[in-house]
Amino acid sequence: MTSIALPTPADLSITPRDRRFGRETATPRLWHGGSVEATAIYNALSTTFPVGEAFFVESVRAFREGAPPKLAEEIKAFTTQEAIHSREHDAFNKRAAASGYDLSKLEAQVEKRLAMTRSKPPIVSLAATMALEHFTAILAHQLLAVPQHLAAAEKETADLWRWHAVEEIEHKGVAYDTWLHATRHWPRGKRWKVKAKVMLYVTRNFVVDRTAGSLELMRQDGVTGLKAWSRLLWYLWIRPGMFRKIGGAWLKFFLPGFHPWNEDDRHLLRAYEASAGDTPEPARKVRRAA
Ligand SMILES: [Fe+2]
Ligand SMILES: [Fe+2]
Repeated sequence: MTSIALPTPADLSITPRDRRFGRETATPRLWHGGSVEATAIYNALSTTFPVGEAFFVESVRAFREGAPPKLAEEIKAFTTQEAIHSREHDAFNKRAAASGYDLSKLEAQVEKRLAMTRSKPPIVSLAATMALEHFTAILAHQLLAVPQHLAAAEKETADLWRWHAVEEIEHKGVAYDTWLHATRHWPRGKRWKVKAKVMLYVTRNFVVDRTAGSLELMRQDGVTGLKAWSRLLWYLWIRPGMFRKIGGAWLKFFLPGFHPWNEDDRHLLRAYEASAGDTPEPARKVRRAA
């Protein structure tokens, strides 16, 4: 087997935290500080998670054969984390539906994208997963590094997003390392070309689909037309400007020698664990999906 030097920290531990959110308390419809556009973008994102993260798991596991033992262990922990994320976002989405949102259009769009990707060879699904996991990790970094993003949100729901962000950072190298393992016999140039092409493709779809999804949810709150567009674009690109702020980290993906752990942002995980109210529960009985 050709071995690959992996920059994933040797002492990284991927710890599934089997948490449940929002089961006891009601989630207000406009849970994000009463803001139609903030609620819409997070709800649109959440709509993608239950099936999207199941797709990530399936895509990574298709290439676990022959993986070095450390990576094989990380794939198991990644699988467990994503399975629990799917469960919690499914529960969250049901609460959004119970508060009156119709998510069916958004869900249909996600299914359509996934069906398109699944119709291609499995390595394309892995590449898409690897690209989207980078995307998720840089969004997660932003979310934890800049408290402003969730400052106005209802606490329990903000906790759900922070918990998810922590685990996305923790397992951010898994799909990438699996990709390096799966393509270990490819020439570097080919690997870069496929990875860059797939990143551009998934980014375009991500931005277009989440924007359309958010506008649809805003429409359901009675905000339409130019007003909806300007409020949403302002929120995403100006203030707090999540999409603008992840631009630099997104670009790094295209650099030669890129690896998600070139940026070791575990200080954000330590800060999360040290923060009041977010004390991690001991990793007690965690369902192993692997
Ligand atoms: Fe996740
Ligand atoms: Fe993930």
